[in-house]
Amino acid sequence: MLIVAKDRSFPAHFTKNLNFGTQTIFFRMRTKLVAGNWKMNTTPEEGQKLASEVVNMVKDELNREVQVVLAPPFTHLHQVSRLIGDAKHISLAAQNVSEHEKGAYTGEISVGMLKAVGVKWVILGHSERREFFKESNQQLAKKLDAVLAGGLQPIFCCGEPLEIREKEDQNGYVQRQLEESLFHLSEEQMRKVVIAYEPIWAIGTGKTASDDQAQEMHAHIRQQLAGKWGQNLANEIRILYGGSVKPDNAKSLFAKPDVDGGLVGGASLKSRDFMDIIKGAV
Ligand code: 13P
Repeated sequence: MLIVAKDRSFPAHFTKNLNFGTQTIFFRMRTKLVAGNWKMNTTPEEGQKLASEVVNMVKDELNREVQVVLAPPFTHLHQVSRLIGDAKHISLAAQNVSEHEKGAYTGEISVGMLKAVGVKWVILGHSERREFFKESNQQLAKKLDAVLAGGLQPIFCCGEPLEIREKEDQNGYVQRQLEESLFHLSEEQMRKVVIAYEPIWAIGTGKTASDDQAQEMHAHIRQQLAGKWGQNLANEIRILYGGSVKPDNAKSLFAKPDVDGGLVGGASLKSRDFMDIIKGAV
């Protein structure tokens, strides 16, 4: 998506400028983002190897503006943060966080703890957290508040299970997830959110949504955002697709007008595959 604009009062991921002699033209477009969700995989040593391979490949091979995000397990965050250092284009995500600031919450990790080790993003509401750990839309609303209050950026996941898709009720289902977790946010808060549409039937199954199915849902999500916060804000928000993204399907998915990158599981565990997916966003 490309809109020519008069000034540069947009978030960094949304502004490009071109100089023509004395005149500067600002383009508004969404910078693509590709995030690797490692889930509960890799030992610290394997994680270190994987992260350094990705950092080096991005340095050597990425010459266009794509934001790359790595989401390793909690135990690897500190070392992956050090490996990323000040590498251009790459930043660090956690896969979850507590909605509480601190206290007697055994086994939980706070926003402050994540910030202290260099985390910039938090994946929230992944379908595995919803399914196995019973995270509700209401709890996710609280987690979003905690993440935003702490100055981190959420990657908010939504997406329908197979039986809902079979009943063709996916639009209503995703709409409810957005309404119940996001719709209390202010415009300013919403600007910090990235949405990831991950149809559950496509996660880890090798069964990707078609380019058109992804585009259709992403356009629906953007329409909901426009209805709540206005078209300008809706145009700024990045909506990622997740679910069996691979090197051979990334490019055509990311070419769809409302698909702004991907949230990648299995294929992010192989540096070459992950890099080829990132290149699909260029
Ligand atoms: P896969 O890419 O392995 O299908 O996983 C997608 C996902 O859940 C990313 O968060």
